Amino acid sequence: MKNHNQPPSPPQLPIIGNLHQLGKLPHRSLQKLSQKYGPIMLLQLGKVPTLVISSPEMAKQVLKTHDLECCSRPLTQGPRRLSYNFLDIAFSPYSDYWKEIRKICVLELFSSKRVKSFASVREESVASFIDLISQTSPNPVNLSEKMYYLLDCIICKIACGRSYQGKQFQNGSDSKLDKVIQEGIAMLGSFSAADFFPYVGWIVDVFTGLHARREKCFHQFDGFYQMVIDEHLNPHRPVPENEDTVDSLLRLLKNQSDEGLLTQDHIKAILKDLFLGAIDTTSDTLLWAMTELMKNPRVIKKLQAEIRSSVGNINKPLVEETVCENLKYLKMVFKETLRLHPPVVLMIPHLAQKHIQIGGYDVYPNTRIQVNVFAIGRDPEIWKNPEEFYPERFENEAIGIDFGGQYFELLPFGSGRRICPGIKLATAAFEFVLANLLYHFDWKLPDGMETEDLSMEEELGLTVHKKIPLCLVPIKYNP
Ligand code: HEM
Repeated sequence: MKNHNQPPSPPQLPIIGNLHQLGKLPHRSLQKLSQKYGPIMLLQLGKVPTLVISSPEMAKQVLKTHDLECCSRPLTQGPRRLSYNFLDIAFSPYSDYWKEIRKICVLELFSSKRVKSFASVREESVASFIDLISQTSPNPVNLSEKMYYLLDCIICKIACGRSYQGKQFQNGSDSKLDKVIQEGIAMLGSFSAADFFPYVGWIVDVFTGLHARREKCFHQFDGFYQMVIDEHLNPHRPVPENEDTVDSLLRLLKNQSDEGLLTQDHIKAILKDLFLGAIDTTSDTLLWAMTELMKNPRVIKKLQAEIRSSVGNINKPLVEETVCENLKYLKMVFKETLRLHPPVVLMIPHLAQKHIQIGGYDVYPNTRIQVNVFAIGRDPEIWKNPEEFYPERFENEAIGIDFGGQYFELLPFGSGRRICPGIKLATAAFEFVLANLLYHFDWKLPDGMETEDLSMEEELGLTVHKKIPLCLVPIKYNP
């Protein structure tokens, strides 16, 4: 019998329910649907009831009032394989195991102290990045490609102690790390019929080739992780000055008691979170920031003035991180970029574990929950001229002061028990990279291109990234 206290739902088709309404950019389709059906909707995606949340009030009820009841994850197929059957943090369902592994990682891998300890990694990588762009100047540079490589390099050094860019592994097969990471991201973000049609969907995944692609990707990653772990276990490896992620996890593994939590598979699953959760999110945010800045000459001038005046007239090799930490306008630009372009548009799906009420409606166990962070960031009821890139809106506002998840109007990192543990690392990397790009270069559009020609087209993978690569002309700045 139909329960009449369920949230409003758009009409459904037999079997597929509302799947056909998602389109290529589900965050935008769901934003439109929520304008018609309201900030809490219940969709039927194949066999899966899915609650879609599109307002700060409803988000607060899910992520704060009912955080405990809503903080599990659905057991989806792509993440299952790549996370060694949910041994990671991001896709692991709520359990004592997840609480313990998240606690270990927050303390050992993502704390402020650890993020600071990797400042030299960021400096070294950004210095080569600036050098590379200087060599291209005054020719156009494909910033999308270079930015991805930069973040790949930073995360690889933090995680594994060195960069593996372009390196072949798995006995010389064609497995280059950057390609494998791209494929892993595609696999996590891909549509798997098995996730929406239990019992029969896997047949579709086998016929479409998705299953085989996922298996290949898993084995490539596994080969890479094993190589990194073996290198770290080699007794002849010089003792590093600074522990990388693999060092820290191997130390914990070695020092644990007999019934300890960690195995090498756990280390591999956590490396997956770093490679697939940190690179694209941060590089996409930087690319959207550069795109918005090029579209808004007033803002880029004001930001460059802030950065350059804080450095003074000395020709510095790099704007230091300690300087970036105090740049107020830079922080506003970060928030404004994440408001308009949150890379994880619908957050990672949550799962209701109990019967609860949200917005006065019944929500039953095993309902999937998606918070449309994108729609909330562009809601005209919350934001004045929401489509305008206007960092000053954060000048006097308490909103989003520290992304601590207490301001439900701005949720690019989520909130509550599942809040992104990488906020400090992402913030440090964003501020440092952008400050240096804008300190060392003035930026122009390639010949014949006007601001209006800059593409804002989106493409959805695991994150929402720019469909057309961003190519710009760097002009060296001489103070
Ligand atoms: C601009 C950059 C980033 C953005 C916008 C972002 C956003 C998010 C979001 C929205 C979630 C899901 C929250 C939820 O489900 O409630 C998340 C989870 C997560 N993020 Fe990030 N992230 C970023 C960078 C990073 C970095 C640099 C790391 C690693 C150092 C990282 C590691 C993780 C992990 C491990 C989780 C899973 C947490 C859990 O399920 O308990 N993220 N992130």
